[in-house]
Amino acid sequence: MLETAFCEKYGINSVQVLRRFHSKKNEVILFSFLLTSNREEKWIVKKFKNPARCQKEAEILTLLYDAGLAVPKIIYAAADHLVLSYLPGITFLEWLEREEKAGCPKENYLSCLHDFARWLKAFYQITAQKLSPGLILGDVNLRNFLLGEKFFGLDFEDCRPGLPEEDLGRFCAYVLTYNPAFTRWKYQFVAACKEIVAEKLNLTWGPVFLELQKELESMSRRRKKQNLAADFYRQGRAFNLIP
Ligand SMILES: Nc1ncnc2c1ncn2[C@@H]1O[C@H](COP(=O)(O)OP(=O)(O)O)[C@@H](O)[C@H]1O
Ligand SMILES: [Mg+2]
Repeated sequence: MLETAFCEKYGINSVQVLRRFHSKKNEVILFSFLLTSNREEKWIVKKFKNPARCQKEAEILTLLYDAGLAVPKIIYAAADHLVLSYLPGITFLEWLEREEKAGCPKENYLSCLHDFARWLKAFYQITAQKLSPGLILGDVNLRNFLLGEKFFGLDFEDCRPGLPEEDLGRFCAYVLTYNPAFTRWKYQFVAACKEIVAEKLNLTWGPVFLELQKELESMSRRRKKQNLAADFYRQGRAFNLIP
């Protein structure tokens, strides 16, 4: 998987797999590299099924990192894989599940939502200035954000032209449907997203709500299951989420 050029550049003596991460599309592994200087480096290797997506992620990551956004640093870029700085922490999803299990009240998670909103706003600003206007993340599942030393964003291969309302609407749909789905706690969390994240991005709730609903409908089709949008419609009103 690793290139000779990379091993020579960093004087790599030996390699050990420390952890494999959950990934549907790619292979994402945390390695410990022992360098000739006897130093140990822990780096992530992300191997892409599709090399074009690797190039795209490398381009966007470089742009964001150089602009000062909290994202992994590229240590080495090959045609079909990237070696990235390892960011210790937990995914937004692990954090969400932990907070819900502990029954944390709104006051406890407000600062995290402010961090998320600030990160998103900076992402849209930087990409609009330096790349094409109107780029969005595309894949906003909660494993693509990491809470560590700071709030980080991780996965950029699905970036595409679009509206921020799509990202936020989908994000809220994911939050509501992670197991256990449609809990009171999750509705409250999404209401806080409306209050904090939508507000910070200057988005009106109507279009975000439409994207949320659209994502729930396509999830229902994919899962050939109950009508998730109808569930949301019934309970969302109590949380002021239905315009
Ligand atoms: N630089 C990193 N530091 C720490 N963990 C990471 C890093 N990059 C990826 N991960 C972990 O690997 C998982 C999958 O990485 P991601 O870039 O989202 O790939 P995929 O395209 O497979 O979704 C993430 O959810 C995260 O847990
Ligand atoms: Mg991902």
